Amino acid sequence: MGKSLNAEVDSKAWPKEGWSRVPFWVYTDPDLYQRELDLFFYGRSWNYVALECEIPEKGSFKRSWIGERQVVVVRGENDEVHIWENRCAHRGARLCWKNKGKEESFTCPYHQWNFALDGKLQGVPLKRGVLKKGGMPSDFDNANHGLTRLQVHIENGTIWASFHPAPPSFAEYSGPEVMAHIHRHFPGRKLKLLGYNRQLIPSNWKLYFENLKDPYHATLLHSFLITFGLWRADTQSESLPAVSGHSLMVSRNVGKKKTDVNADIARFKDALELHDADTVTPLSEFSDGQVVAITHFPSVVIHQQANTFGMRHIIPKGIDSFELAWTFFGYEDDSDEMTRLRVRHANLYGPAGYVAMEDGEVLAESQGGAHHADAYSAVLEMGGRDVQPQDHMVTEVLIRAFYKYYREAMGL
Ligand SMILES: [Fe+2]
Repeated sequence: MGKSLNAEVDSKAWPKEGWSRVPFWVYTDPDLYQRELDLFFYGRSWNYVALECEIPEKGSFKRSWIGERQVVVVRGENDEVHIWENRCAHRGARLCWKNKGKEESFTCPYHQWNFALDGKLQGVPLKRGVLKKGGMPSDFDNANHGLTRLQVHIENGTIWASFHPAPPSFAEYSGPEVMAHIHRHFPGRKLKLLGYNRQLIPSNWKLYFENLKDPYHATLLHSFLITFGLWRADTQSESLPAVSGHSLMVSRNVGKKKTDVNADIARFKDALELHDADTVTPLSEFSDGQVVAITHFPSVVIHQQANTFGMRHIIPKGIDSFELAWTFFGYEDDSDEMTRLRVRHANLYGPAGYVAMEDGEVLAESQGGAHHADAYSAVLEMGGRDVQPQDHMVTEVLIRAFYKYYREAMGL
């Protein structure tokens, strides 16, 4: 594409093709990134922060993140869940320095201001001064100096938060299709925590959402999935865009089988066999036979593949980096055999997962390619140029639908 020397003058205009193009500056522009944080993470949205099973008892807490801001999720009196920002109401220091634990109350390490589980200020050392000198003014009221509390929503064992004082309802924000799938995965059965993984991926956070809106790459990049029948280009599937930037990607496990379709795909390795087939042999558990990835914008991807379930919490760390915090879980009433399979199948995911490993690599390389490329755009025409639901995998419709939403929300 021929460009004049002053191409940068208009290089931040969205390409005329609309949502079938994504200009690479959306992954590298620091001002845009700050607006994304303010609008999507700190605005009128609901962000995933924890599972209820992570904070089982009064005083149990988990430190979590919404965008770049730290919050603490605490179980208080009467089983209530409180979420407050991890910033002392006195001088702003973070007061909770642990990822998980159990406390009767929280004390800031700096000046020992003490806060109750719900974030209320309950103690100020030397409040009345010493030897009748110093101390707080007589009209200082603890009630006016609590921690910043967030709105809390609990949906069948999953905990969500909003910085906005009056967010839409969680159901409205999620939309009916996504809510139906959240209820399929979280029908009200108690959850059981199985473990964690964390990794730092050197790419823009949005590229991770796009990865889970991209069935096309899964049929090509992921040798393990396609070779052992966990994902195939010819599997019956659906790609369903939803409100607020969310989407559903539905497929089915089919078992290892060579077909006309996958025989042509370089990463289908027909000769490969596993000595222990457990890792690729799920026990059937959902009557619909579906394997579903819910991308719930902007904070989480909820995955089900084989018998592994996970919350993939997305925590931006600047324009060029994000942390991916994986929480693996099952149901409290699972059989021992099912729990064993859930843990076994978790080997597919995480930083060294049989499947997830290569996603981290390609996203890092995609970010590299996005730099110094303001005049260029990604092309998203697979499966057409529209944003309607599709019943196959050879499509980029979910990414197009996401950028339709993104542009409207950001005013681009
Ligand atoms: Fe992938």
